[in-house]
Amino acid sequence: MEQSGIKTIYFDNAATSFPKPPGAVEAVIDYMTRVGGNPGRSGHARSVDAGEAVFSAREAVAALFGVKNPMRVVLCSNATEALNLAIQGILRPGDHAVTTAMEHNSTIRPLMEMERRDGISVTVAPCPGGRVDCEELLRSFRPKTRLVVVNHASNAFGVVQPLGDIGMMCREKKAVLLADCAQSAGIIPIDIKRDAVDIAAFAGHKGLYGPTGTGGLVISDDFDFRLIRPLKFGGTGSNSDSTYQPDFLPDIFESGTLNAAGISGLNAGIRYILSLQDGVRTVQSHKRDLAGYFIRKAGECVEGFTTYVAAELMDTGVVSFNIEGKEPSEVAWRLAERHGIMCRSGLHCAPLAHRTIGTFPGGTVRFSFGIFNTPEEIDIAVGALQEIAVEGGE
Ligand code: ALA
Repeated sequence: MEQSGIKTIYFDNAATSFPKPPGAVEAVIDYMTRVGGNPGRSGHARSVDAGEAVFSAREAVAALFGVKNPMRVVLCSNATEALNLAIQGILRPGDHAVTTAMEHNSTIRPLMEMERRDGISVTVAPCPGGRVDCEELLRSFRPKTRLVVVNHASNAFGVVQPLGDIGMMCREKKAVLLADCAQSAGIIPIDIKRDAVDIAAFAGHKGLYGPTGTGGLVISDDFDFRLIRPLKFGGTGSNSDSTYQPDFLPDIFESGTLNAAGISGLNAGIRYILSLQDGVRTVQSHKRDLAGYFIRKAGECVEGFTTYVAAELMDTGVVSFNIEGKEPSEVAWRLAERHGIMCRSGLHCAPLAHRTIGTFPGGTVRFSFGIFNTPEEIDIAVGALQEIAVEGGE
């Protein structure tokens, strides 16, 4: 994209990834122009083809998360809906839930709402420096702890939590582990069986390179999905003779016509990642290299450049920073308006994480790199930040 003669640079991949990889846009168009039917609703070719397209996407998601049965992939409209389904579906009045001080509002708000409305109680385990304190987390368990919700990777700071250690703890305490993988799916390798994760929520339009309006839940092969109550009820195309919701996966949780066009794009996005040599690991090392290069170079060249989290804790290509004396929103505005560099500033819908790191209420400027970003783009951004750092106010 050209913006008044300058080439734009997109560093907002944690909000949604751009551009999409080869095949993803074409898959949406193919669905809209060639397939066209409603998956699982009719016996004609368009409906059957639509059903196959959706099933193929389930297979891709299952492969990515290390789940054997693709029917354990529940498709939702985004990670927020998926988290709400799991949180509201599992917790009952009187239950206790544990979460962490690095969560996004998509976890904290449903928990707080249930505390107010349904009489559950919630303990937020501290995350000194961004990483969860596992001993404190263990001390947070109570006899009525039914659910633990952990943000696998922070959207605001890129900190990755030790899912495997937390998974072992939850098994021992017989609590359900729900991992928010909105910012880790497709970015760092995930194996929910190895890490003893019962349920994982994912966004389809970030690290999986699908369109917005896609996401879902992955339910591990041995978790009893009937412990989750559906969030919505309605038509599924199955058991149409019954006035009750089907009791099998994925229909129990998927009422209403699916976003089959978006899901086709999601399928192509995931298959692009899986087609890379070393798959997700290739994405991870590219983003790690870009983030490391940016932090090093900006640290050397940009006056007053500050990051907040130890480099070894960040592993998703997300870098949150500030420039001394400058408001994050002003820096982001100048980057966009004068230099065509697109990023996100503020609290990133994660006020708890910013409180934890000490950047509340002003927040930070966040660069979030994608698979198609290059070191040359970082050089341009560092040059722009150098100028902004020494510019006066307007
Ligand atoms: N949660 C998304 C972000 O971090 C939208 O920007």
